[in-house]
Amino acid sequence: MIIAIDGPAASGKGTLAKRVAAHFGLPWLDTGLLYRAVARDVLKAGKRLEDAEAAAAAAQNLGPESLDDPKLRGNGIGDAASVVGKIPEVRAALLKLQQDFAAQPGGAVLDGRDIGTVICPNADVKIFVTASPEIRAKRRFLERTARGEAITYESILEEIRRRDERDMGRAAAPMRPAADAFLLDTTNLDIEAAFNTAVGEITRKVGQRGRP
Ligand code: DC
Repeated sequence: MIIAIDGPAASGKGTLAKRVAAHFGLPWLDTGLLYRAVARDVLKAGKRLEDAEAAAAAAQNLGPESLDDPKLRGNGIGDAASVVGKIPEVRAALLKLQQDFAAQPGGAVLDGRDIGTVICPNADVKIFVTASPEIRAKRRFLERTARGEAITYESILEEIRRRDERDMGRAAAPMRPAADAFLLDTTNLDIEAAFNTAVGEITRKVGQRGRP
């Protein structure tokens, strides 16, 4: 069973994907980490994020071990990842790795921006997680101030809006819900309610196909 979970920055899709994967006993790939690692490697090589050649080379050389870097989950790198994510050669270089992950026996859960539309258009279940920019900014603000970061709500909201615009506006595999995706708006849901709704949808879909 392949489960595709897409959605914008700070929508909670990663937390949801991780829990869904654990619940169904499936491996999980956070595809944002791939783009984050490419951005990290381009910067490490002293190149600009917009340098398509350097970014494509970084994407081609990406190994699974290079995703085990706690710095990848930091905030600055998310914005940089969104810049390299606009480059078609980068997306092409990361395609097979993601599709191979999805094709493993038993299936997998993948989360990102284009899983339901480009990477796994035949996924058994597609969920597009969303929430208003204001609520996403509020959640991020609470998370980051709890870690002791000195940051304002307004700057986070601005960052989220900029990232949404870039991820939705790019020509290559723009972020958008697949036509057959289930829309999960978490604006008024906590993680528990979002998880229960997602599991309900997956069970309904997979049940219809006669799978366990
Ligand atoms: O999910 P995330 O915040 O870790 O992703 C960081 C950036 O990487 C995101 O803003 C755009 C890019 N990305 C992408 O273009 N396609 C994906 N499948 C996943 C991430």
